[in-house]
Amino acid sequence: MPSSPLAPGATIGILGTGQLGRMLAMAAARLGFRVETFGPEQDPPAAHAAAAHMSADYEDEGALGAFAQNVDVATYEFENIPTKTVSILKAAGVPVRPDERVLAVCQDRLEEKRYFEKAGVPTAPIWPVENAEDLAAAMREAAGPAILKTRRFGYDGKGQVRLKPGDDPKAAFEACGGVPSILEGFVDFDFEVSLIAARGLGGYAAFFDIPRNTHRDGILHQSHFPSGLPKEAVDIAHRTAKAILDDLSYVGVLTIEFFWSKASGLIANEMAPRVHNSGHWTVEACDTSQFEQHIRAVAGWPLGRPRRHSDGVMTNLIGAEAGDWPALSAEPGLALTLYGKGEARPGRKMGHTVVLTAQSP
Ligand SMILES: Nc1ncnc2c1ncn2[C@@H]1O[C@H](COP(=O)(O)OP(=O)(O)O)[C@@H](O)[C@H]1O
Ligand SMILES: [Mg+2]
Repeated sequence: MPSSPLAPGATIGILGTGQLGRMLAMAAARLGFRVETFGPEQDPPAAHAAAAHMSADYEDEGALGAFAQNVDVATYEFENIPTKTVSILKAAGVPVRPDERVLAVCQDRLEEKRYFEKAGVPTAPIWPVENAEDLAAAMREAAGPAILKTRRFGYDGKGQVRLKPGDDPKAAFEACGGVPSILEGFVDFDFEVSLIAARGLGGYAAFFDIPRNTHRDGILHQSHFPSGLPKEAVDIAHRTAKAILDDLSYVGVLTIEFFWSKASGLIANEMAPRVHNSGHWTVEACDTSQFEQHIRAVAGWPLGRPRRHSDGVMTNLIGAEAGDWPALSAEPGLALTLYGKGEARPGRKMGHTVVLTAQSP
């Protein structure tokens, strides 16, 4: 039975404190909620937009107990939250949405690929790799270009090594940290897309229009909308997402990344139990943003209408690129979002821009 919707004035706890938490907090504030963020950093981006921040380790039971007293419901903006954190909050009587079942899947690339396989969703061929010998055998079987990825903690292309036949497996395994990994056959795709889906407490699902994503150095560079993905593929993506959302009794926003080619159709790459960088443009181009949609779901509100009203492109500002803010801020028709991060380290996501190019019918 769905419980009653959370009333404005209630406090939503967000585990994780990056830019996604920051934009979730802004959406929550717009609907009249208070947000308390939780994470190890002292002065993180999400805390700047929240009513309160608790700085503590994710497994600090005392801090989690206090946090549980302060919040009416909790969610996460980061998939590497320990499942123990969620268990502690649930034991303290705080509903956590989405349920932590999805964390076990999304924290481990091997589990994730197996989950897709079980759900009948095509993926790249994969081989589990525990050591250099496994990798050598997997490379022989792959017999072509492949990518070694650590099972855990990879993001923005980190924890990955691209390989071709003849490369030294021992060196590659070490370059990837010598940790449990998977070898993935290289997918020869035409382009990449992502589906940002949401499921409400009552089980109703809604989908944002699918963007086409380009990467630079393993990091998302741009999301273009519309994607140009054929309608049949869009339908398959929706059916896939609906089956996964229902299977996990999911509440909130879930993102699935796919490779697409005319020859092979949609191939699932990975999924994230949260709002996603490739959905930032929904703030400017849709009736309801991915952030508001997630907050609505978590609060037990009806989902908003995700309709896209404009075409356009979202571009990430990585590292020093955010230093261009004076010029960007002077560009008419460009929506600039900055994450309030101190140091513009190379490869760090500092902000993004959205430019709308046309109204869509
Ligand atoms: N099997 C693959 N074949 C071709 N390209 C890949 C493959 N796996 C990853 N990539 C490329 O690397 C990018 C990052 O990999 P991904 O698995 O999404 O890891 P993360 O986004 O967590 O760093 C993908 O968006 C894609 O461009
Ligand atoms: Mg990815």
